[in-house]
Amino acid sequence: MPFFRTKEAPRTEVDFTNLPRHVAIIMDGNGRWAKKRGLPRTAGHAAGAENFRTIATYCKEIGLEYLTVYAFSTENWKRPAEEVSAIMGLLKKYLLEAIEKMERDRVKMCFFGDLSQLPEELQLLCERTREISRHYDGVQVNICLNYGGRDEILRAARRFALDCAEGKADPNHLTEAQFSSYLYSAGVPDPDLIIRPSGELRLSNFLPWQSAYAEFYFTDVLWPDFSKEELHRALASYQHRQRRFGGVLNG
Ligand code: FPP
Repeated sequence: MPFFRTKEAPRTEVDFTNLPRHVAIIMDGNGRWAKKRGLPRTAGHAAGAENFRTIATYCKEIGLEYLTVYAFSTENWKRPAEEVSAIMGLLKKYLLEAIEKMERDRVKMCFFGDLSQLPEELQLLCERTREISRHYDGVQVNICLNYGGRDEILRAARRFALDCAEGKADPNHLTEAQFSSYLYSAGVPDPDLIIRPSGELRLSNFLPWQSAYAEFYFTDVLWPDFSKEELHRALASYQHRQRRFGGVLNG
């Protein structure tokens, strides 16, 4: 096991007055979780969706400002049709439930990704959820759906080029902040902490622009087993890091 994982895992004390503003999670390991139990992969996704509910609710309780999750990537269409349709079904179920509880929960829901390729019913549900929750002030949950980081950057570059062609933008004065405003994540601060469960040590096209200065937390725990205590470990680990953003520490 790599050194940084064994070193960080035992810490669980979290300073809830000093949380990261934005946590992003790659919800990985659903398939392996199901396989270990002799269940179909779809059962793993169902358990993963349930865990997403638990963790998102908890993030709201502790006062986190932004939670972004990778639910379906531009590459996930390569999976068997029945698996894709099971994931779409779980998303639909989640959004319908979210709409019902919205007034009470006041969670702001946003979506990052090219929604136009999703089943129409799901697109409409995303739109409705986003619209209803637009002014809510609880945690903002960003669900990445048909999301690919490179695709997001290309799309932003295309939109920026069109604005330049129409005289609305000037390529010579393009700043990082201005380019960020063309991304799906426009207006959302960059993630402070990116968590990837399931033992994989890669980003898999998740928020490549936004993760430039993010801290990473990896664990072998599979996503459906990623409990509040696991989240505490990740947060505690984050709170022991020294973020320098390319500079030097003061004092
Ligand atoms: C990665 O695990 C997980 C996915 C590609 C799908 C994630 C979807 C959900 C958690 C359900 C719907 C989401 C919401 C927000 C309600 P994997 O299948 O790659 O696992 P493996 O690597 O073990 O095979």
